[in-house]
Amino acid sequence: MAEEAILGFLQNNDEIAHSGYFAAEHNLDHEELKNVIKSLQAFRYIEAKVLKREFYGLTDEGKKYAAEGSPEFHFFSAVPEEGTISMDDLQRILDPFVFDVGSKQAPKKKWVAMGQQVSRTVQHVEDKVKEMLLQIQQGLELDQESLKSLKYRKLIILTEKWSGYSEVKKGANYAPERRSLATDLTRENLQNWQELDFKEYNVNAKGQPVDSGHLHPLLKVRKQFKDIFCQMGFEEMPTNNFVESSFWNFDALFQPQQHPARDSHDTFFLKAPSTTRELPEDYVARVKQVHESGGFGSRGYNCEWKREEANKNLLRTHTTAVSSRMLYELAKGPFTPKKYFSIDRVFRNEAVDKTHLAEFHQIEGVVCDRGLTLGDLIGVLQEFFSRLGMSELRFKPAYNPYTEPSMEIFSYHAGLEKWVEIGNSGMFRPEMLRPMGLPEDVRVIAWGLSLERPTMILYECDNIRELFGHKVDLKKVKENPICRIGIESI
Ligand code: PHE
Repeated sequence: MAEEAILGFLQNNDEIAHSGYFAAEHNLDHEELKNVIKSLQAFRYIEAKVLKREFYGLTDEGKKYAAEGSPEFHFFSAVPEEGTISMDDLQRILDPFVFDVGSKQAPKKKWVAMGQQVSRTVQHVEDKVKEMLLQIQQGLELDQESLKSLKYRKLIILTEKWSGYSEVKKGANYAPERRSLATDLTRENLQNWQELDFKEYNVNAKGQPVDSGHLHPLLKVRKQFKDIFCQMGFEEMPTNNFVESSFWNFDALFQPQQHPARDSHDTFFLKAPSTTRELPEDYVARVKQVHESGGFGSRGYNCEWKREEANKNLLRTHTTAVSSRMLYELAKGPFTPKKYFSIDRVFRNEAVDKTHLAEFHQIEGVVCDRGLTLGDLIGVLQEFFSRLGMSELRFKPAYNPYTEPSMEIFSYHAGLEKWVEIGNSGMFRPEMLRPMGLPEDVRVIAWGLSLERPTMILYECDNIRELFGHKVDLKKVKENPICRIGIESI
């Protein structure tokens, strides 16, 4: 209805001057008319200007002034045309209210000069306030300045706000009837494109929110570690086997077969397949030899080494199992120095608590070259951890079956105000390296740490079960911030 009225009217007329009057003349609801104007304007069928009006009513005081004239006018009128009159006399002859207001307003308007005696400064004045109030009473529009002064004197109050449109004219896309627009690029629409009007692209419209995947905090921190290793020239080791044989997980690392870690209380052994299918036999023989009777300056463990023990399959308890495989591979060819790293999952048969799960991720770095020393290990750890934003390190002697010397790594945590253990490190023993076939002067330095620990610190999580496993809050995963590990120090 309203749409037809507007488009039809504009076919023969230049403009709709006032949407309010137009609505009244055509018996249309003004609110509906406004909506139609808005929509036609959006599609540029028409142009229009927004019109806003405020309606005022007179307060009791305003009504009084409108009927009787303003106090300042009465005050002025009481001052003689010639000569002066005393304030006392004015006060006596005037209504107290008129005297009060008039004695303030009349001098302000420069109608009178005031001291003890009062005299006129002009001979004739117009009672503008009264006129304006009368205009408002008649529903006429006043300029903003006048409205402001009347509002300030509390002579008028806002009674109604009105909005509509003025100067409604034909727009760039004007047509006497609205065409329905094609919105889709279908085969039919493209075939008939000449007969159709296509809806314009709204390049400002917001797109549909994309339901994308979200990286878990562990993956974010892992990426940062990976980047640091790559920046330092390390190559990633293939860690894609959770199942490992005891041989590579323990024996190759010169871990004795009686070691408590090889107990099922600490390690998950596999029921099926319970044993490994093949091991490199000549290397196995050398490992057996070094365990039982030593070599390369070592006395060995002086104990029988059992093949059945080495064959047992398990879920790897550390990624050092992968490092041992890599070093064995490296020893096969002519020696070249290498820097390796890995970040992947390991499993330990532990009681679950706030800080322990039966599985976690290890980060491991390995450097092998001729003549490396403990000083090289300390240097590379300083370099690595300072890239993480931890440049204050301390080392404590420790024990690992496969490294000598071994060091625990501590870093000063400014937030916790104490030294916290951040990793474990050492130089792989000759009993591990030499049976592999690595040259005598080749030394391998290595270190390991968990991925969970720094992630929990960075994401302020104090229960590991909220970070990993079935209790993880997916909303947190979606909303957690990007990881900015050591960003200031890099
Ligand atoms: N494998 C050790 C661990 O499980 C870490 C480590 C790696 C220690 C390399 C020394 C050298 O904690």
